[in-house]
This record gives sequence, structure tokens and C-alpha cells, in this order.
Amino acid sequence: MGQSSHHSTGMNGFWTIVPALVVLSLIAFPGVGVSQDSADDPVTFAADIAPLLQENCQVCHREGGIGPMSFLSYDEVRPWAPIIRDVVRAREMPPYHYDTNIGIQELKEDRRLTEEEIATFVAWADAGAPLGDLSELPEPMEWPDPTDWRLAEQFGQPDLVVPAKPFSVPAEGQDLWWEPLVEIPLENDRYIRAIEVKPSVEGRKVVHHANTTLYLPEQGGGLESQGGRFTEYASGKLGEILPEGTGRLLPANSLVRWSIHYYPMGDAVEDEVTELGFWLYPEGYEPELEQTLGRFSMEGDLDIAPQGTAMVQGFHSWDHPVRIDSFQPHGHLRLTAASLEVFYPDTGEREVVSMVSNWHPGWQLSHIYEDDVAPLIPVGAVMVVSQWYDNTSENPHNPDPDVWVYRGGRTTDEMSHAWIAVTHLDQQDYDRLVAERAAKASLAGDDG
Ligand code: HEC
Repeated sequence: MGQSSHHSTGMNGFWTIVPALVVLSLIAFPGVGVSQDSADDPVTFAADIAPLLQENCQVCHREGGIGPMSFLSYDEVRPWAPIIRDVVRAREMPPYHYDTNIGIQELKEDRRLTEEEIATFVAWADAGAPLGDLSELPEPMEWPDPTDWRLAEQFGQPDLVVPAKPFSVPAEGQDLWWEPLVEIPLENDRYIRAIEVKPSVEGRKVVHHANTTLYLPEQGGGLESQGGRFTEYASGKLGEILPEGTGRLLPANSLVRWSIHYYPMGDAVEDEVTELGFWLYPEGYEPELEQTLGRFSMEGDLDIAPQGTAMVQGFHSWDHPVRIDSFQPHGHLRLTAASLEVFYPDTGEREVVSMVSNWHPGWQLSHIYEDDVAPLIPVGAVMVVSQWYDNTSENPHNPDPDVWVYRGGRTTDEMSHAWIAVTHLDQQDYDRLVAERAAKASLAGDDG
């Protein structure tokens, strides 16, 4: 899913071979690619929209998915056409908030539509949402059972499943937190390849977030937090996939502390059980590279005045080279934007790695860089994380622009940290990865 919306590196090659004339005509008649299509051949549900919905929307918008309505048939979709146009044009749906024009664009599980796909939705709604020729309808998609692990398609069944303890959520009421501590049945150290958090099917509507943190028993009988989280589940987020050959250590006899945030949604859910699935590298396997998932905090005061705004930053450098594998900004209802940059003190250069200028509190997404583009950071460079907050009435998610907002754990407080997966390298690893990429780039250059 979403593969087609990647802005692939191939684009560079494409532009160099497009004759200047074509480029010029595209600039002179910017609508040409779309209007040509719609002039001879109007955009219809059967021919154009149904395939786009299958590819980009139905994974959530179907029975058993997390979307509030189903988009399988024309009758289901048609009444929504004007709203679909608006949310697609605003890049609110599919939910993947990440700027298209700056920073690394090759991301795993990227859900963004291309400009052309957006234009197709808009043209269809503007034309009155026509059905078109039924014979052009694609075959319905075969969806996996909603109780299946989503990563099973890629990795098979998980090697280890650790369920939280059952919790009943009433039909109505306040936010609820459930924090059971559960032992992980594992006798030897193993390395993690991928992780997924899966609420029960009925639970999907009431599980807002589910965080899982690694703990180890201490000598004295207490527990020691390992600092690292396994993963943070939030609506729509799949899990963590590590690059091939990179592992995250899962020590024997460790425990997982769940922190599940439930929110009553109108129907009582009895004995909800959310599960954590692990895909592990084989017994005895030592990955070439080791990754940790860290919480990187931003400094300074975060006291946001009524009708005010704020920006905070965090800086981090390492005494060894690293590769940054993923970036997940975290905040609550006033956070509106976040960025990840690398600063090179030697040259004064600053490089934007990721920019999210339409951050949405309902979708806490981890942006996972494709293996070949995950930034390689030399010793001495500084990672800079910035987050922007808006406590004015302009912010559509702001529940109350007339109060001061401070750091804190409640949804109405704010937070300022990002979850970042970092693979630790030595100089030799770093040089090898740089050389491998250079070799791939020159091969790709020869092709095009
Ligand atoms: C990852 C799951 C997911 C995907 C993929 C997804 N949606 Fe949604 N969609 C949701 C959820 C959950 C909601 C309700 C909460 C919200 O509005 O954020 C929603 C809400 C909507 C709404 C209602 C918005 C409103 O204001 O009432 C529309 C329309 C919509 N989606 C269209 C789409 C379209 C079109 C696509 C594909 C191009 C799509 N969605 C892809 C999960 C998804």
C-alpha cells in the first residue's frame, strides 16, 4: 500500500531525460496531464476512483477497519464525495502528515497520494461523482482477516506474542489508562527484526495509544527501565520494521510495561486485549548493526500563553557515527509542526532531514526512512529536533485558547520529545555504508 505514492529517487533520472520542450509545455499548461484525461474521458468511479480507494483507503475504510465509514461500493462512497475532495486536497487523508517538498521523501509505509491522484479525486467530485461504466470496475480486493497481524504478509506469523492483560472499557466516560506489567517468555537473548501492536478488532475504536516499554529484573529484586521503548502504537501506525541486518536487542527474561490509553466511544468493550508481536532474527544470530529507539527531549521552557505560540529545540551528538532510521515527533493538542535537521559545525551547513508542517495529534506516526536514504551522521555533526506549538484560536485542535499550557502528561498539557531510532556505527561501518550508497548511485546513474 502507498508504494505508488513514493517520490522515488528515479525522479532525478527522469527529469534529466525529459526533453526541455515537454518541460516547457508542462509549465505553460500546468493542467495538461489531468485535463487531457478528463476532456476525452471523464473521471469516473468505476474506472478511476475505485482503484484509488482500493489502493489507498479501504485498508481502513471497510468493515473491521479503523475508519468510521466503509468505502467499498459506489453507494457507500458517493455521499462522501465532496468531503473526500476536501480531505484529500488538504492532505488530511490518507493520514500521513509529512511535507512533500523538503527533506527525505523515500519512506516505508508512506501513505501520501501523488498530486495527480489528488487531482483525480477533485475532478471526480467536481464533476458530480459519476459512476461511469460498470464493466470498468476493478475486482473487489481480498482483504486479510482483520484479526491477522498486518506484518504477517511480509514476515509470516510473529515468533513471539505478548498480550496485555484484559481490560473492560465502558460505553461512556473519561480517558482511562491501563498499565499492566507482563513477562516476556524468552530464555535467551534475541534480536528484533520487527514489532507490531495489535488491539482486538472491537478494541480498535477505543485504543488511542498503546506504549510498550522494556524492563529488566534488577539484582535486588526490583525492576530497571531500559529506557528504550519497543514501540508506540497509535491509531494507524503499523509498528517498527528494522532495516535488514540491523537488530534491536530483546534480552532474555525481560518484561514489558504496557501503557494503554483507552477512550470510551459509545459501545462498551469487554475484556479488550491488545497484543504485542515480535518478529525475531534466528537464535544465535548477531546482527551486523545494532539499533536503539530513544526519546530525544527538547530543552527550555514550554509555557505557552493564552493565544500564544512557542517553539522548542533539542540538540544531540554522538561520540561515534550513527544512522537515523526513523523519526516520530510527539506532542498533544497544541503541537502543529516538527522538524529533524542535521547541523555540521565544521562548515556551518544545515540539512533538513524531515519536515512535518501539518502535524496532527490524532495520528502519531513514525516516519521510517528507506534503507538506502536513512541519514548517516558523522562524528561531530549535531541532530536538531524542533517542535512548534500553537495555542491560538487558529489551531483547529485547540480545546481552549484562553488558558496557559505547560508540560505534562494529560492530553490538555503539552510534551516535547521525539522518538528516534538510531543505529550505532563504528568508523568502518560508516565508511562501508557511504561507499555502498555511492556505488549504488553511480550504477543507477549508468542506467538512466
Ligand atoms: C490508516 C487508516 C486510514 C486510511 C488509509 C484512510 N483513512 Fe480516512 N479516516 C480514517 C479515520 C480513523 C477517520 C476518522 C477520524 C479522522 O477523521 O481523523 C477517517 C476519516 C475520513 C473521512 C471523514 C472526514 C470528516 O471530516 O468527516 C473521509 C472523507 C476520509 N477519511 C476519506 C479517506 C480517503 C478518501 C482515503 C484514501 C484516499 C482515506 N480516508 C484513507 C482512517 C483512514
